Amino acid sequence: MKKMILLLLMSVGALFQFCSSTKKAQASVPKVTYTANVQPLIVNNCSPCHIPPKGNKEALNTYETAKANIDESIVRINKKPDEKGFMPFKHPKLSDSTVNVFVQWKADGLLEK
Ligand code: HEC
Repeated sequence: MKKMILLLLMSVGALFQFCSSTKKAQASVPKVTYTANVQPLIVNNCSPCHIPPKGNKEALNTYETAKANIDESIVRINKKPDEKGFMPFKHPKLSDSTVNVFVQWKADGLLEK
């Protein structure tokens, strides 16, 4: 019986440790924001076409416009370069980690900063 209780205590302890360590890991991953993460990627990859006044395509140069076009943007940057509607137009496909910043921005709630 003593052995059983000890075993029970040990497994409860292990469970708590697991929970608190996953919580900590989550808290230390900062959320993706427009200002810190998304804006630099748009400036680098979507200009000049989407940055007025030089670009005459759908403007993506502000928080509001980037947010309004996020669904369409995610669809297009996930296309293959030879598919219709692929973005960035006539450029190499963005890396998976870059695409993931856009996806994660949406998942985190499209925060401005
Ligand atoms: C070299 C110019 C160029 C670059 C760079 C470029 N685009 Fe585009 N984009 C276009 C053109 C041209 C169109 C219109 C044709 C079409 O819809 O496929 C367009 C259309 C779009 C649309 C649809 C807008 C609408 O009216 O519905 C979205 C969204 C978009 N681009 C996102 C992006 C994103 C995000 C990037 C950067 C990762 C990017 N584009 C980079 C030229 C560009």
